[in-house]
Amino acid sequence: MQRRFVLLLTVVGALALAVVVTACGSSKKSSSTSTGSAGASTTSSSSGSGGGKIALLLPENRTARYESQDRPLFEARVKELCPNCSVLYSNAEQDAAKQQAQAEAAITNGAKVLVVDAVDGRAAASIVTRAKQSKIPVIAYDRLISNSDLDYYVSFDNRRVGELQATSLVNRLRADGSRGNLVMINGAPTDANAAQFRAGAHSVLDSSGFRIAREYDTPDWSPDRAQAEMDQAITALGKTGFVGVYAANDGTGGAAIASMRSQGIDPATRPTTGQDAELAGIQRIVAGTQYMTVYKAIRPEAQDSATFAVALAQGKTPDATLVNTRTNNGQKDVPSVILTPVAVTSRNINDTVVRDGYWTAAQICTSAYAAQCRRLGIQ
Ligand code: BGC
Repeated sequence: MQRRFVLLLTVVGALALAVVVTACGSSKKSSSTSTGSAGASTTSSSSGSGGGKIALLLPENRTARYESQDRPLFEARVKELCPNCSVLYSNAEQDAAKQQAQAEAAITNGAKVLVVDAVDGRAAASIVTRAKQSKIPVIAYDRLISNSDLDYYVSFDNRRVGELQATSLVNRLRADGSRGNLVMINGAPTDANAAQFRAGAHSVLDSSGFRIAREYDTPDWSPDRAQAEMDQAITALGKTGFVGVYAANDGTGGAAIASMRSQGIDPATRPTTGQDAELAGIQRIVAGTQYMTVYKAIRPEAQDSATFAVALAQGKTPDATLVNTRTNNGQKDVPSVILTPVAVTSRNINDTVVRDGYWTAAQICTSAYAAQCRRLGIQ
């Protein structure tokens, strides 16, 4: 009796499940069909070419990531999700006025959404205002745009980046038994991220027992400026007057290392930080001239932004499950995707950038680095 009842329940349950599955399947199918035709009709009516236009505005091209990672990864994801969409790409070469003009041009050219990595996080509020006048949504990419009606923000935990850099530096110096002065080379004063990196780093360095003897903000994140800053610090402190260098990214770190070299200082004796896991930075770590970098997986950053952008370009509501927090930009709590940065030293190159395919061992281990690569087990 009981057995029969269980059997009956199972049959009823299975039937119910089948009905639900069928319903879901058909609703999914119908929604994707309607998406496809909605996407196509919106775009064909607007552009005549059957594709929605997505503007990607990047801030500069002296830092390697933008042209080698952000742009290609973003474009590839857009193509994958929406073969008929097109990306209107511009690079502002560190010029905020140029970026404003590029945004205007993108709007005039029919962009349905702007993805902006702002040269100047305050000034770019006027880009958002302008876009909103034309009902165009804006995604802040990597750098927050303050006091503006942003739709989304996709970035990393940038304060954490500064903490990781400073903690690695201090731990290494303590392990070496070093004491004394540090030189601090921060990023561009106009970049919202740079302030976060600096604040995160100060939160560790200020109570570390090391003294920040010289500190610079580096306009435009320019490696040339960073090298001049380091030259100046060495002149002021003397060649033996500092034990390590906090540099906010690989561009400025590489510049500080070049400055040390040009003044006859062995950079291996002055641990220097970085950020971006640039190929050149990783190779300096392999060679022992740079101590660490911070790896930020740009793939999910670019892909999540592209996912938002495609949905917005098609007039749809983006996948809310990607959003993992909100970030206050002075005007609103902006739905955000905040990704986690990772510290990289010679010990975990394999387990981070190589494992992720960010760089292959073959790219890193060119002939000049082959011996050290073998020693570090990079393969
Ligand atoms: C980015 C860094 C980059 C720097 C210079 C920052 O906003 O987060 O990855 O190195 O700008 O372009």
